[in-house]
Order: sequence, then C-alpha cells, then structure tokens
Amino acid sequence: MKSLVIYFSRPGNNWAVGYIEKGNTEVIAEYIKEFTGADLFKCDPVKPYSEDYMKCTEEAMAYKKADARPALKAYIDDISAYDTVYIGGPVYWGELPYEVYTELDRLDFHGKTVKPFATHEGSGLGSVESVLKRKCVGANVKRGLAIQGSSVRSDLAKEQVKNWVE
Ligand SMILES: Cc1cc2nc3c(=O)[nH]c(=O)nc-3n(C[C@H](O)[C@H](O)[C@H](O)COP(=O)(O)O)c2cc1C
Repeated sequence: MKSLVIYFSRPGNNWAVGYIEKGNTEVIAEYIKEFTGADLFKCDPVKPYSEDYMKCTEEAMAYKKADARPALKAYIDDISAYDTVYIGGPVYWGELPYEVYTELDRLDFHGKTVKPFATHEGSGLGSVESVLKRKCVGANVKRGLAIQGSSVRSDLAKEQVKNWVE
C-alpha cells in the first residue's frame, strides 16, 4: 500500500523568511515523499491568498470566522489505494488552512492511519492534531510533527522528518 501527503503551502511573503518561491510546508512534504515514496496532493485554491503577509493573515481570519471551505483547482475523492495519509500545512491562527478542510470533507478515512504535520513560527501544532481527530472519522490519528517554518531548509529538520516517518 502507498502513502499520500495532503497539504497546503503558500509561496510569497511570510513571517521570519521574507519572500519565498516555495512554501515552507512544501519542503516538508517533499522530504516525506523522499523518505516514503508517498504521492503528493497539494490543496491549491482557486483564489490564492495575497502575496502580502498581513493581507494574507486577514484573509485567513475571514475564512476561520466564516468556517469557509475555499474552492480548490482540483480534488481527490478516493483514497482507497492508501493506508497512511500525511496531512499538513502551515499553522494559520492555530490550525490548518481551511483549504485542507475543503479536501478532507470529501474523503472516507475509515481504517486509515493519519499522520499530522505542520510548520509554524512559535505555536507548535496548535489544535492541528485535535481537529484532525475530529475530522478524520474512523482513522487512527498518530502523534504529529511540528517544525518551525524558518528552519525547514536545514539538515536538522530533514533528519526530524526522517525519524518521524520511520
Ligand atoms: C495567515 C497566517 C497565519 C499564521 N498563524 C500562525 C499561528 O497561529 N502560529 C504560528 O506559530 N505561526 C503562524 N503563521 C506562520 C506560519 O505558520 C509559518 O510561516 C509557516 O511555516 C508557513 O508555511 P508555508 O510557507 O508552507 O505556507 C501564520 C502565517 C500566516 C500567513
């Protein structure tokens, strides 16, 4: 059986890293792929967040207040070929970006192992694990991995991912 990584990540201007061409969480998703051979699925919104960091925080807060499910450019509806699903993203106001919820709402997690991961700038996993336990009904949700966004491009971060997936 194969593994799947469902994630969100945003290039642009961000806290502590300035302008980045590739989002921090995407770097982690690629490490997971390297170590496990997992397939990657990126939750890619029809309407991208602003490149400006402050504007982006306001947009994310508006989604949170509205409990929004922002539309994605593509979806997956069937995860029956996978036994382990890694689910991650940046921590936005204490939880995953709502684009991830858009995708999760479509999926049947019965019998799956779910491994949560997130990048952040201080809050750790926040409520990522507890929310995934609620949303992925029927899954065995394992201990999550939190990595500081500004440190993902280090050997240490890569090593942490390696140890965690093993
Ligand atoms: C909208 C928004 C909200 C954020 N909220 C938090 C937060 O609650 N706690 C935290 O530690 N970092 C927060 N951050 C920082 C991001 O979690 C961090 O920069 C992350 O690595 C970005 O990942 P990405 O490059 O994959 O999008 C926030 C950043 C943004 C843009």
